[in-house]
Amino acid sequence: MARRVAFVNNKGGVGKSTTTVRLAEGLAKEGKRVLVVDMDPQGNASSMLGWFYDSERPQPTISQAIKADTEGAARSVVQPIGWEAPYAERIALAPAILTLENRMAEAGVDGAWRRLDTALEGVDDSFDYTLLDCPPSVFHLTQLALAAAHDVVIVTEADIYAVEAAERMRDFVTVRARRNLANPTLELRGVVINALTTTAVQAEQRDSIRRIFGDLVWDPTIKHRTTLAEAGTDALPLTSPRAAEPRASYELLTATFLVGRHAAQAMLAPGTPGAIV
Ligand SMILES: Nc1ncnc2c1ncn2[C@@H]1O[C@H](COP(=O)(O)OP(=O)(O)OP(=O)(O)O)[C@@H](O)[C@H]1O
Ligand SMILES: [Mg+2]
Repeated sequence: MARRVAFVNNKGGVGKSTTTVRLAEGLAKEGKRVLVVDMDPQGNASSMLGWFYDSERPQPTISQAIKADTEGAARSVVQPIGWEAPYAERIALAPAILTLENRMAEAGVDGAWRRLDTALEGVDDSFDYTLLDCPPSVFHLTQLALAAAHDVVIVTEADIYAVEAAERMRDFVTVRARRNLANPTLELRGVVINALTTTAVQAEQRDSIRRIFGDLVWDPTIKHRTTLAEAGTDALPLTSPRAAEPRASYELLTATFLVGRHAAQAMLAPGTPGAIV
């Protein structure tokens, strides 16, 4: 069975989808098979991966699989992504569109929070990792992901509100989700600091994230880079020569994901792109 990792923060726009997609890319480059499950009705991870909904020939989405509430229902919604890259065939997608909002109506239904876990049953056995991109909320859609996940990664910016939200997420994961979603072994696997700029305020917030989360903070931090935002909105893999720096950063972040923070640190020679700040 794939190791399932949910990317969360109830603050919006901090880089959850970007991190999910770029780690999926990094893992695929390392030869891993990755299933991305888009749990956000905004469908940003789906479009960043080059998948687009065709209303003339509607493709199935994760909403239908959750609604079905049957074991393995997600099998029929797993699709190829739209990237042209040698490693793209190792990434598959369970996409989302706005209809995923309809699943919110089931939030009060007995046991509804188990439905994604049920839908994924057996479906991700042939993958190494399943990455779950969560919406900016801790409500039902995120809870479906947390009930199905083994690990959680909190994505945050070095901004006071994002840091406060990250702390709330940690408490939510380590106390409430473990207990209320019957997932007592759910692990907080890491904290990604995204979109770091060079201002003093950001440096202060970055340091306070390191104080709060200690060794859970993954290296390298991801810098604010227009080329990264552009690759996302253009639905492209991070292959252009202009994206060399964010590409190098995500390769290192992938190493951290795979082998742990310290091993990746050791790979960072001074002056390399993406070096730790
Ligand atoms: N390191 C970065 N440098 C520059 N732009 C970035 C960076 N990370 C993310 N962005 C941009 O910021 C915006 C928000 O990123 P993203 O969609 O990944 O955040 P999110 O947390 O998933 O948002 P939401 O809460 O809406 O799901 C996007 O336009 C994305 O391209
Ligand atoms: Mg998102």
